[in-house]
Amino acid sequence: MYILGLSSYSHESSAALIKDGEIRALVEEERLNREKHTSKFPKAAIAECLRIEGIGFQDIAAVTFFWVPLRELAGNLPHILRYFPASLNLLNAPSGGEDLKALKRLNLMGNVGRAIQAEFQLARPPEVKFIEHHLSHAASAFFVSEFEEAAIITWDGRGEDVSTLLAVGRGNKIEKLKEIKVPHSLGHLYAAVTDYLGFKPFFDEWKVMGMSAYGNDSLANAFDDLVEILPGGEYRLNLKYFQFHTHGQSRWVSDAFRKKFGPSRAVNAEYEQRHFDTALALQKIVEKTGLHVAKAMHAATKLPNLCMTGGVALNCLMNKEILQKTPFSEFFIQPIASDAGTSLGSALYHYHQVLDRPRKFVFNSAYWGPEFTNEEIETVLKAKNVRYHKSEDIARETARHIAEGKIVGWFQGRMEAGPRALGNRSITVNPCDPTMKERLNARVKKREFFRPFAPSVLAEKAAEYFEIPKDQLSPYMILIGDVLAEKRNVIPAVTHADHTARVHTVSKDVNPKYWRLISEFDKLTGVPVLLNTSFNENEPIVCTPLHAVECFLRTEFDVLAIGDFLVVKDSNP
Ligand SMILES: [Fe+2]
Repeated sequence: MYILGLSSYSHESSAALIKDGEIRALVEEERLNREKHTSKFPKAAIAECLRIEGIGFQDIAAVTFFWVPLRELAGNLPHILRYFPASLNLLNAPSGGEDLKALKRLNLMGNVGRAIQAEFQLARPPEVKFIEHHLSHAASAFFVSEFEEAAIITWDGRGEDVSTLLAVGRGNKIEKLKEIKVPHSLGHLYAAVTDYLGFKPFFDEWKVMGMSAYGNDSLANAFDDLVEILPGGEYRLNLKYFQFHTHGQSRWVSDAFRKKFGPSRAVNAEYEQRHFDTALALQKIVEKTGLHVAKAMHAATKLPNLCMTGGVALNCLMNKEILQKTPFSEFFIQPIASDAGTSLGSALYHYHQVLDRPRKFVFNSAYWGPEFTNEEIETVLKAKNVRYHKSEDIARETARHIAEGKIVGWFQGRMEAGPRALGNRSITVNPCDPTMKERLNARVKKREFFRPFAPSVLAEKAAEYFEIPKDQLSPYMILIGDVLAEKRNVIPAVTHADHTARVHTVSKDVNPKYWRLISEFDKLTGVPVLLNTSFNENEPIVCTPLHAVECFLRTEFDVLAIGDFLVVKDSNP
């Protein structure tokens, strides 16, 4: 039984296809339409899911959607009335991606069946099952976890009217314990300060997290005034510092915030120490609140297992605190934690919770996107007129280039879903070279100096380099480890200012080809670690061979390892 799940008109539109509860494909629309974080209808992603599985729309038993528009309308009425008349501004403010106003967005969401009919030329619109947003998040984690029972926390900017869901999963059912409603939202708190610091909310939270490592503690106490910690895992924002609850995405912080913390940083303005201190203070209050919620969930459920997802669960520094300081012993953080994962979650929710089908599938990899054969790749190489050769052993030959200090694009197998490149669409370089971070930024990535690059490490050797709380593996680059003191000089290009690293542990059974690349590098250098960053240049991660070759030709890569082919820049002037 096939179920097609969709997320659209918010952020990170995506399509997911499950068969009898197992993931068959999950594709983010941005990877195909090349518009970062796109909220457009995921036409290409749906088509790609069907193509991957070799089926047509007639084979789909049910279509699910990650949002209940009617719940948003009903759930927000009390909010509108409470902050009336200022709340009328919400009607005119952008409220999803692409600057969609709320009513227009809700109309599109409610009519998604018609959009499917039109885009795929169906005789009639399919019946769409609308699933609550946070239940979609929760289902995307718990139902594919290895746990029979678990506490579940989902947190993001907002769903229909909820920012944080506390729930318990047992077998094939999820039961809500508590909902924290908007405007009290850790995701929106982070977005507001991201905006204050001159970055784009819902895009650049990574930058703020990276900045925090350069901050001093000067503002931490003052930030305590922003969030009120309440019993039972609840929290409230001090709304005098914000405006998004009355003005949506058009105004984030208030004059009171600027009066207390200074003027907002203009886009592209110089960085001052207070900006880094602000990022650190934000990070600390989010960690403190997150820890409070997680501890309360343990106290309420007494369960040993915790599932987390939602955009806030991408905050790996907060995750580290929760791993370290709560009594939970087992964790599953579903890595497609943004709304891209709610297409999957809505489908899983329908299958298990609504149709009452049993669970059997366990999420053990994020490689759910398209894959290309050597023949398809070679066709593109020929069409782009590049000189290449077919390698006898692509891992060994590529590792040699990396060891020699080359910047290498590594394009193999099925594309990974989620925000991180996990070794199938990655740029990999030598982490031992202290100048590598600057070179990579100058030549390809063009990132701010304060953003760290992450290491991929052979899973079986991870403990020789990193200390990850409770000895967790981190196959999705979603946990932070401390780089062991004696290794900081060995892998300087992936050691952040605070001596942490967002670790990617690579297991042979999950990604044998990438595992071999790192192993071959280890044989040459004695270091089982590569610097791994996403294969792109200020664009969505490359998806197809054409994207990869064009990115390679346009930027200053040295080598492209694509399928079994090697393209060397020197021979392609
Ligand atoms: Fe969400």
